[in-house]
Amino acid sequence: ARLVVLVSGSGTNLQALLDATADPAYGATVVAVGADRDGIEGLARAERAGIPTFVLKVKDFDSREAWDAALTDACAAYTPDLVVSAGFMKLVGASFLDRFAGRMLNTHPALSPSFPGMHGPADALEYGVKVTGCTLFVVDGGVDTGPIVAQSAVTVADDDTVESLHERIKVAERAMLVDAVGRMAREGFVVAGRRVRIG
Ligand code: GRF
Repeated sequence: ARLVVLVSGSGTNLQALLDATADPAYGATVVAVGADRDGIEGLARAERAGIPTFVLKVKDFDSREAWDAALTDACAAYTPDLVVSAGFMKLVGASFLDRFAGRMLNTHPALSPSFPGMHGPADALEYGVKVTGCTLFVVDGGVDTGPIVAQSAVTVADDDTVESLHERIKVAERAMLVDAVGRMAREGFVVAGRRVRIG
């Protein structure tokens, strides 16, 4: 399967996919990496792996819709089977979802439906949950609301800070992402309503 991965930051989820796809038996290859900003480690990781990159900044476009259309075309140019949003900090719009409906995955550092949005680990810590985690889901028109593919639970430590908790979540998140994307690539998957069935 051909993967286009979208990033906005350090790209450790991307790196986990790059490491996994080095094995031909994994069943997927990263064919391009896109970002909404430049100068991030995620792009450097792609460049070090010799993978094409593209950067589309919202402020460079006349409208959000124009940016969304450009992002759609940039991804489509690589004919992906799956688009994986791994720490991509923008919501895609209607044109993107029309083109990639059911074929875009996003990973979120909380156990959906709890704590959607930009601050999952902080919100979990603030709420005082003892268990949080991460969620891989098929992107729909909402914020972290799509049909769930996989989840992984992570214990919250009494002395956790947002950073220590998020780092622990990210360890589980990378493993969850690599395992699920590999199975989806090798076995195929079906999205029926809110259910995602692999194989
Ligand atoms: C991940 O935890 C992702 O779920 C969240 O931001 C983090 C990105 O980490 N949206 P990285 O860029 O993959 O290292």
